[in-house]
Amino acid sequence: MGTNGDNNNNNFLSHNDSIISQFTKQAIPFTQMSEHSNQYGLELLLKLSDPKQNDIVLDIACGNGIVSGEFAKIVAHVTGIDLTPAMIEQAKLLQQEKQLKNVDWKIGDVSNLPFEDNLFSIVVTRYSFHHMLEPKKVLAEMKRVCMNGGKVLVIDVTPDVDKVDAFNYVEKLRDSSHTRALPFSELENMMKEVGLVKLKSEYHDLEMPLEKILQSSFPDPKDVDKIKQIFKEDLTKNNLGVKSHLRDGEIHFYFPVSMIIGNKI
Ligand SMILES: C[S@@+](CC[C@H](N)C(=O)[O-])C[C@H]1O[C@@H](n2cnc3c(N)ncnc32)[C@H](O)[C@@H]1O
Repeated sequence: MGTNGDNNNNNFLSHNDSIISQFTKQAIPFTQMSEHSNQYGLELLLKLSDPKQNDIVLDIACGNGIVSGEFAKIVAHVTGIDLTPAMIEQAKLLQQEKQLKNVDWKIGDVSNLPFEDNLFSIVVTRYSFHHMLEPKKVLAEMKRVCMNGGKVLVIDVTPDVDKVDAFNYVEKLRDSSHTRALPFSELENMMKEVGLVKLKSEYHDLEMPLEKILQSSFPDPKDVDKIKQIFKEDLTKNNLGVKSHLRDGEIHFYFPVSMIIGNKI
């Protein structure tokens, strides 16, 4: 046993407990980070998924409901499901603020979706697969609840194959609930393996200020200097594949964000 009580206790919690613990702390700072509502990214995901007025959408690991809220402006109905009650509280506030009447929220684990087969015409998830122990199982669940002819859309960070280990190492230090971000080729193969077809994708770089994201992701205090040092070295080495750079003297970097969509037939 070590000496840091909180962190050692965390080692004994299940992964879901660690997700809930992390995102209960992150709920308000995550909501306050404008980068998570990046307009270009949201427009790109709507362009790729081309939602229609009669679509019925499920947003899994919906968090504070940013993606649900974008779909709700267009489609008939959106359901958002997430494990962390504090994130769902933020989603309800967003729903009130945007006066959305066609959305409802559920608390639950997306590894076993509490829905019948073939219910939704679009099933989406953003920035969640890198928190999953078994993303392929979750993807198969997404496909199961999607109706024939419907669409399954996954948006996540996809590091280059040769940088993926370095990227995941520092991301795990920054956010202990991180499991593994997948390179694009792995995500694409997974979509094919679960039987999704007619795959299409988009990509964009999402700029992040290091200090701001550190303050909103609650790393172990003993790791903060290590993380900063890794990014400092990255300014010249690009080991992480995130194009670390200085803006107004502060370290910024780009999350490599991919969006991939497939049809269920
Ligand atoms: C980085 S946030 C992304 C939130 C939202 N999808 C977005 O794009 O803004 C990750 C979310 O995944 C949720 N999550 C992680 N594992 C989950 C699981 N097994 N079941 C349900 N939600 C989960 C967390 O609670 C958290 O709200």
